[in-house]
Amino acid sequence: MGTNGGMLNRESQRTILGIETSCDETAAAVVRDGREVLSSVVYSQIPLHQAYGGVVPEIASRSHLEKISGVIQEAMAKANADWKDIDAISVTYGPGLASSLIVGLSAAKGLALALGKPLIGINHLEAHIHSVFLKSDAPDPHEVCPMLALVVSGGHTCWVDVPQVGQYRVIGQTLDDAAGEAFDKAAKLLGLGYPGGPVIDRVAKQAARSDAVAFPKGRPRPGNPALGAMKAEMCVSFSGLKTSLMYHLREHPPTPEQVPEIVSAYQEAIVGALVDRCDVALKNGDYRALAVGGGVSLNGRLRTRLAELTAAQGMTILLALPKDCGDNAAMIAGLAGMGCGVTGEDAFRLDVVPALEIGG
Ligand code: KG4
Ligand code: ZN
Repeated sequence: MGTNGGMLNRESQRTILGIETSCDETAAAVVRDGREVLSSVVYSQIPLHQAYGGVVPEIASRSHLEKISGVIQEAMAKANADWKDIDAISVTYGPGLASSLIVGLSAAKGLALALGKPLIGINHLEAHIHSVFLKSDAPDPHEVCPMLALVVSGGHTCWVDVPQVGQYRVIGQTLDDAAGEAFDKAAKLLGLGYPGGPVIDRVAKQAARSDAVAFPKGRPRPGNPALGAMKAEMCVSFSGLKTSLMYHLREHPPTPEQVPEIVSAYQEAIVGALVDRCDVALKNGDYRALAVGGGVSLNGRLRTRLAELTAAQGMTILLALPKDCGDNAAMIAGLAGMGCGVTGEDAFRLDVVPALEIGG
């Protein structure tokens, strides 16, 4: 455990330890006042799951159990923090894999009880939105609301109306696969490895053109019952894209030279659908900024296209630092530091909620 080097001033600051174990990253972080990251430690389990081409829940939860104590100790030491400097313990309670979430939530409850500190339960997706504010040059979150947020990760793809800090309403989403899942499944079909997003991003850059294959555009039809109360123009559907790739590969087995063009066309279909929905939402709403969070927000093509879109509309775009795009605990402690989340006795009674929704 680190000693207090006098860095933290408990009287004037609210310093929070965050814990995140919703999927396959074991993470802990210490964040002051919701924005200032004193430490952020992420242990990625990717090598453990690579052989299976996806996350294996039991392997994930056992690895969280092994690593969680060390990761928390490292985050405390890197922040040069002592337990007396920590004002509260925050933790992800959903959405995610139940068996993974349980490890973090149990650790957080144990720590909070033993230390006599408040516990704060945080929604992982809402925290992805907050990740854009962990940069030192990011604006004050209160000043850019109302904002539109796009959450694009391995498990989720949705557009969120954020009228004020801590208030969220989903206005669009995927009807089936998340964008990250669509990247991961394509990479698996092409034998490019796991996770698929980073490798597709890299391989697509080698392509001379992005229209070699006509993939479905990822736009659901109005009247699709899966839309519920959502507008078709604000939703996407990526499962047809993956099926289309499967048929294409079966009918036209590619040479290694053709793979980049296929990958580029596939990426363009996903990015095109995401950018199009942002365009619709920004035109129809009264927003001050577009915030983009989640692992897929690392995608180079998506960043370029969204930067072009927002520049054309004179809109501010907020993107997280690369290290804060994927799963991490700084976004958990950060959102807790903004006064958000489940607090008091309710937090100590929390169970994990694997299907927790934004604003839920
Ligand atoms: O947010 P995240 O780390 O975990 C979840 O909460 O799901 O997102 C992981 C997802 C994976 O599907 C991964 O393939 C994708 O983010 N991803 C990318 C890129 N880097 C990671 N997708 C596209 N382009 C990238 N550069
Ligand atoms: Zn995530």
